[in-house]
Amino acid sequence: MPLPMMRKSARRSTPLLLLLSYHRHPMNAPVPPAPDAIRLDVRAAAGTYGIEIAPDLSARLAAFLDASKVPARRFIVSSPTVWRLHGDRFGGLTGDEPILIPDGERHKHLATVGRIYDALIRAGADRATTIVAIGGGMVGDIAGFAAATYLRGVPVVQVPTTLLAQVDSSVGGKVGVNHALGKNLIGAFHPPAAVAIDPDLLATLPRREFRAGLYEVVKYGVIASPGLFDRVQQQLKAIFARDASVLLPVIAESCRIKARIVEQDERESGVRRTLNFGHTAGHGLESVTKYRRFRHGEAIAYGMLVAAELAVMRHALAADARERLASLIVQMGPLPPVGDLSSAEILEAVTRDKKVIAGRLHFVLPAAIGSTTVVTDVTEEELTAALIATGLRT
Ligand SMILES: NC(=O)c1ccc[n+]([C@@H]2O[C@H](COP(=O)([O-])OP(=O)(O)OC[C@H]3O[C@@H](n4cnc5c(N)ncnc54)[C@H](O)[C@@H]3O)[C@@H](O)[C@H]2O)c1
Ligand SMILES: [Zn+2]
Repeated sequence: MPLPMMRKSARRSTPLLLLLSYHRHPMNAPVPPAPDAIRLDVRAAAGTYGIEIAPDLSARLAAFLDASKVPARRFIVSSPTVWRLHGDRFGGLTGDEPILIPDGERHKHLATVGRIYDALIRAGADRATTIVAIGGGMVGDIAGFAAATYLRGVPVVQVPTTLLAQVDSSVGGKVGVNHALGKNLIGAFHPPAAVAIDPDLLATLPRREFRAGLYEVVKYGVIASPGLFDRVQQQLKAIFARDASVLLPVIAESCRIKARIVEQDERESGVRRTLNFGHTAGHGLESVTKYRRFRHGEAIAYGMLVAAELAVMRHALAADARERLASLIVQMGPLPPVGDLSSAEILEAVTRDKKVIAGRLHFVLPAAIGSTTVVTDVTEEELTAALIATGLRT
């Protein structure tokens, strides 16, 4: 298989005929949503919450929060970068100062959560408080964790501003922080009271961040939706141009897939594991490079290729399906190199990872574009061969 990082991107701009159908209906809101808004409901153990996806939703956020019936005192948690770029869109949402936490995964720890508690306590935030998390997955996870624990839990509304957060981390209720000894080791399940997704916010996202989120969209296509996979492939140019009308159905379909999976398995004991497609080898790559080389989605791109390779080796996936995945990843643009990384190192990291359950490595393998199987009998030899076929050294 050609290495994805070696080829120049060659995107196609074929217009797409396929139309996913969505149930569009007005929200029970004082201000009606834009006609092109998409609304999804997610059932969680703690109650159903709504996701609204609409261009310019940030400008209507106050009405959205009122309609979501969350407590009236609102505290924004955001980051300086996001606030500098987009803070003015959220004017009038609250009289309280936004709580800005430093950006970057290295600040995703308990001390930063402590700063949020400090600000809330100083401002006299009581149980009738809503946390509004405006930012990428890092802000969403950390603000969500603060909300899960402050006064034993106050509602959080997620307003994701990266593509990754809009299609993945804002939905499903996993919140948490890192520990010095590992990623996301401290956390809770705290489903949002509502999720407000405004694709217009993505206009300022650096291209590499945008692409990193798009790999997770490709993941959804492979695990659950050939239509989504085709749509990304055929509309890649318009997607990268951040055309909101093109992004809207892509984000909505991704959220719908994630929502349907987490509804069935909120606490990840079964089907939710399929969301880990690409994440077994992907986490190994992130870990051996100390989280510095890859954006998360980039490591997942390689992880998906490794899993597809494994599946082809087992005659569980047609070689042309693997080629379709590889060629889409190539078209999406360059990935950081992996040729200097040894398969043995990755293997060690993978077997240390938390997806080893009761001593067995759970691997999500694609069975076709649109379906997966979970296997527990992948051998070290097989994984090594798949890593090498994906470009790693022995
Ligand atoms: N809870 C979950 O289910 C879940 C799932 C996947 C990932 N995550 C977590 O999400 C985090 C990664 O999230 P991420 O990829 O969004 O990264 P991030 O939150 O670190 O944001 C990436 C960068 O983009 C900037 N940014 C955010 N919005 C922007 C905008 N609109 N314009 C310009 N710049 C903007 C941020 O300031 C930051 O520098 C990780 O901590 C990961 O563990 C959680
Ligand atoms: Zn991921």
